[in-house]
Amino acid sequence: MSHGRSGWERTVPPRVGPFREGAFRSPLHSVRVAAVLGIALGVAFTVCFVTGFLSHLIQHPPSFFEWPARPDWLYRLTQGIHVSTGIASIPLLLAKLWTVYPRFWTWPPLRSAAHLIERLALLPLVGGSLFLLFTGVGSIARWFPWSFSFPPAHYAAAWVTIGALIVHVGAKAGATRLALSSRSPELDTGAVAAERGWGSLSRRGLLGAAFGGAAALWLATAGQTVRPLASISVLAPRDPRVGPQGLPVNKTASSAGVVDAATADGWRLTVEGSVATPLTLSLEDLRSMRLREADLVIACVDGWSATGRWRGVPVRDLLALAGASPSSAVTIESLQRPGAAYASSDLHPGQVADPDTMLAVELNGAPLHIDHGFPVRLIGPNRPGVQQTKWVAGVVVS
Ligand code: HEM
Repeated sequence: MSHGRSGWERTVPPRVGPFREGAFRSPLHSVRVAAVLGIALGVAFTVCFVTGFLSHLIQHPPSFFEWPARPDWLYRLTQGIHVSTGIASIPLLLAKLWTVYPRFWTWPPLRSAAHLIERLALLPLVGGSLFLLFTGVGSIARWFPWSFSFPPAHYAAAWVTIGALIVHVGAKAGATRLALSSRSPELDTGAVAAERGWGSLSRRGLLGAAFGGAAALWLATAGQTVRPLASISVLAPRDPRVGPQGLPVNKTASSAGVVDAATADGWRLTVEGSVATPLTLSLEDLRSMRLREADLVIACVDGWSATGRWRGVPVRDLLALAGASPSSAVTIESLQRPGAAYASSDLHPGQVADPDTMLAVELNGAPLHIDHGFPVRLIGPNRPGVQQTKWVAGVVVS
């Protein structure tokens, strides 16, 4: 029924289902709780967006961007923060959605063009948030119940979600300020909620459960990169202490289809491209060169990281041997089928110049395990694990 108002408004709500007056009486559905959880989610999603975008830039660098080789712990930190912040967001997002879901049945559903935009932005905001957290968790658990490629889909969803979040923050800034201002009543206690007959969970209790859940999830997973927590991180997909030669492995030689080629007697490393003397080197040739030893981190895009002691030939020494300019850029190619995911990676001149950027032949005092890249793998400071190319067969200088 209308009261003669035109446009968006129809003032009398249908008296059915969730539209009934008093359909949602729990005091937990409060603007103040929504605002507190919203701010926490806003901070968490911004941190995830910035660290995720950085990881994207490192792996797909535009011409103006050079990720430095030092400090060697930086990518481990930023990607560890990305994954653990995403995981900690899960209870915050669920609590927020539960707090605000009665708002989906407010009447009239649309009040103005601005209100229409605000509400339309909820689709990418809620859908994008759920998609990002679901695909992120699936990916670190190596569980892919979808047929699309994870990195581009997760990256595109991040842009959509952050755009919708900006619209949402703009729309809710006033309500948030008001709800958190000193004029607004204090968060009530369990007694108030109990009085209203909605159980004993107070707003403080709900917030405590959401933030406590976030902290518990963080502790239960952060040990995959914060080593002292490894023994209590029971939900961490990876234990940084477990794997061949004491280090985890994501992609095995058999899953990459390189076992025969990597163990063949005829394996040789070629150094070619912009060089004065192209080289073809056996594993013995490499072992007889001056080897460098360094503690370096495998920092996986999945958020786990682990340090090993590596021995190998600095890439810059190979360039010198081939008569290439020391300020060259280099592509490292593996035995994997060209075009396969992470079959090659690029080193910019700053990374080549670092003496710890090397083609490793040993890990923790023994020849490389085949799943760590036997006969030779790239290892360099401050690089994502997917760029530490394994089963190397070629160095192409440009
Ligand atoms: C991933 C992040 C976020 C998600 C998924 C999310 C989701 C939602 C949804 C679905 C609603 C109900 C919309 C409506 O019909 O009014 C809502 C309301 C609200 N949000 Fe957010 N939000 C997020 C971040 C934020 C941030 C950063 C703030 C603070 C600036 C915020 C403050 C609010 C407020 C005050 C309300 C109104 C609650 C009410 O009137 O009952 N939200 N949010």
